[in-house]
Amino acid sequence: MKILITGATNGMGKGVAKVLAGIDNQAHEIIMLGRSKARCEAVTQELIHATSNQNISFVVCDLARLSDVRQAITEIQDKHAFLDGIFINAGLGYAAKRIETEDGMDAHFQVNYLSQFLLILNLLDLLEKSQDGGRVIFNVTKRGQIFWDDLQMQRKWGYERGIHQAMVAKRMFLARLHALHREKENSKLSFIGFQIPKTVWTNQINIIPGYMRTIASIAKFFGAFISIEKCGEIMAPLFIESQDESLQKSGKLITAKKNEFIDMEEAAAVLNPEWQAKLWELSLALCGDKGLVRN
Ligand SMILES: NC(=O)c1ccc[n+]([C@@H]2O[C@H](COP(=O)([O-])OP(=O)(O)OC[C@H]3O[C@@H](n4cnc5c(N)ncnc54)[C@H](OP(=O)(O)O)[C@@H]3O)[C@@H](O)[C@H]2O)c1
Repeated sequence: MKILITGATNGMGKGVAKVLAGIDNQAHEIIMLGRSKARCEAVTQELIHATSNQNISFVVCDLARLSDVRQAITEIQDKHAFLDGIFINAGLGYAAKRIETEDGMDAHFQVNYLSQFLLILNLLDLLEKSQDGGRVIFNVTKRGQIFWDDLQMQRKWGYERGIHQAMVAKRMFLARLHALHREKENSKLSFIGFQIPKTVWTNQINIIPGYMRTIASIAKFFGAFISIEKCGEIMAPLFIESQDESLQKSGKLITAKKNEFIDMEEAAAVLNPEWQAKLWELSLALCGDKGLVRN
């Protein structure tokens, strides 16, 4: 399988990359998307060394810049004839204050959702060329809401509000992608929302304030966290399972329990087709480049 992973330089993305690169006799190819060339190079070398898989490459792209996303799309299209899977994972976590991007958007909204909306829409053609049923796995959690009258959170901001709004946006996007693709004849693509069942000990520990780090360290002592490698082990089957197994999960929000994937109940607001369409249209307009975005 040839799998593109956003945010593979740290945390959950790195854990999934490491596990996928090391299994099945190093048969899987990993393309990492990361914002820092130095970190991409270092993690590529680290993963090659850890797994003996030479088929690991990267694309540099700061998801806080739509121009970077457009460049990354072109680079991926130029270098790859197909993709089998994409892990939509990169995300800004803790932030002390609201960050406005060069494109004039809330950084959580743009990095965690909008840039990856643009990325996926433009890579669907490559996924459709997969021989194994292209799939997009979204790293999501169940909480959150869309602040329709303050999407960029200029009036009321909080980092958790930002993270969770982006989670809902991703879930609405995947539900709509699923619905649109089931209407299409011969589409073999699946779109799956996955919630990790336990908190993962990631680079966020180095970003959060000291008092939160202390609480997290105590919680870790009592077993509240799993490693990025364990996270990779839990998630890896989603990227390599058969097309039929993947299609059965498409459009759903799932999690893992006792080595099995189980369905979670999705919120009615996320499943509302009118709201999905509204967010889709708003997102297209914010991307501001209808020539590039496939509808
Ligand atoms: N940890 C958990 O238990 C948990 C649970 C559920 C969901 N999540 C979600 O999982 C995702 C990953 O979180 P994590 O805990 O693994 O965090 P993490 O260790 O901080 O990793 C975040 C990844 O996203 C990348 N990233 C951040 N901003 C970016 C940007 N502007 N452009 C490109 N890449 C960017 C980071 O790159 P750098 O290496 O350059 O920083 C890093 O590779 C987030 O969306 C988070 O909300 C996490």
